[in-house]
Amino acid sequence: MKAYRASLLWFAPHSEGPARALFEEDGMLVVGPNPQGVQVVQAIGAWRTVSAQYPGVAVEHWPGRIIAPGFVDLHVHFPQTNVIGSPASGLLPWLENYTFPEEKRFAAPEYSAQAATFFVAELLRNGVTTALTFATSHPESVNTLFNEAQARRLRLITGLCLMDRHAPADLLNQPSTPSGHDATEQSLRDTEALIQRWHGVDRLGYAITPRFAPTSTEAQLRGAGELAAKYPEVWIQSHVAENKDEIAWAEELFPFSRSYLATYDHFGLMRNRAIYAHCIHLDDDDRALMRSTGAAAAVSPTSNLFLGSGFFDYVGADRVGFQYGLASDVGGGTSFSPFHTMLAAYYVGRASVEGLQTKQGLSLSPQHLWWQHSAGAARAMGLEGVVGNLLPGCEADFVVLNPQATPLLARKTSIASNLDELLFSMIVLGDDRLIEKTVISQGI
Ligand code: GUN
Ligand code: ZN
Repeated sequence: MKAYRASLLWFAPHSEGPARALFEEDGMLVVGPNPQGVQVVQAIGAWRTVSAQYPGVAVEHWPGRIIAPGFVDLHVHFPQTNVIGSPASGLLPWLENYTFPEEKRFAAPEYSAQAATFFVAELLRNGVTTALTFATSHPESVNTLFNEAQARRLRLITGLCLMDRHAPADLLNQPSTPSGHDATEQSLRDTEALIQRWHGVDRLGYAITPRFAPTSTEAQLRGAGELAAKYPEVWIQSHVAENKDEIAWAEELFPFSRSYLATYDHFGLMRNRAIYAHCIHLDDDDRALMRSTGAAAAVSPTSNLFLGSGFFDYVGADRVGFQYGLASDVGGGTSFSPFHTMLAAYYVGRASVEGLQTKQGLSLSPQHLWWQHSAGAARAMGLEGVVGNLLPGCEADFVVLNPQATPLLARKTSIASNLDELLFSMIVLGDDRLIEKTVISQGI
């Protein structure tokens, strides 16, 4: 058993209302093993109250610091670290000119391994302790990333990128022999073998990962859906409705489908634990499909602003009531920092006149922005009560924030007169310097 004394930020259970932050100026967090030996939160609250309940427990004191839940990144591409900041006129030219050429390099396991080392370290340096991640179409890229995450105890979910058409030949899933014709079958066999090897090992999870409908044949999507039914605990991840040209292309390729999103449903790829990146250009029928299937959106605002894809419609999402959380989408996205992503989400809300709820756009509250990258994102992935929060029972993944990290942060946070002002100062001015330490739950 171990305790930490600092200011504490966490979230009320969702049943007590969405996105309500709790804050204790002088708080105590007690961490200890659960029956499985995993370090979880045992107690959280005011120092005066909790310390009386845990006499004699060793306490680490961090005056002036804030402990908050480790961040959850709902969608990030491990092989795209080097793609950050690659300008293009839109998604499809960006994929062709920068992203596919970089992903080809992951055919070399050594390249993949050094990229994985950097990627996992960068997530942790930025306070991200859970990530749902794309790998490439090379099975070894999945193995290298899982190995690295396992070594650093990151809660990481990834999967083999399924892509059997409409991409460069050497980036498509490969047949079992160089002259063979079973690339689609092999990609599904590889997926199942990787599920059996990695899903549920330590803190790792598998995600069935069709890149997006245009780069998969119907046979591959059907096979992916069959695996999703066979392994209901496994995640699904893909992209949808990000860009107008992409949508037109998807609709041309799957003319029988009511919409691009409905194509995924047709193949059995919408359910709990299915996370779709972007979800920008949806109509209300699509939103209802998200809600009724339990699928969730990975809102990727830095990416959407950088690639000029559009604005996630928060008003529409909340009106219909489907789940969402925040994501960096590196390398379409421009930063690993959850602070940059939360600020970009705020800009997107300001711009969201398409929802027509208000001509001025929304002003998303700082508590709601932070929730979207922690407890809300965990809930969207089906990990509520496991990560993204510091309620008793949650795995003890947390960040230690130093609100004095820069002169401007120190100046601004010192005059915050309430929680919203404090959180907003950190969202607007924060980056990796604000993360003094990332602490990962230990255990067997
Ligand atoms: N759609 C298909 N692949 C990708 C990708 O790598 N990044 C983004 N942002 N959208 C995609
Ligand atoms: Zn993406």
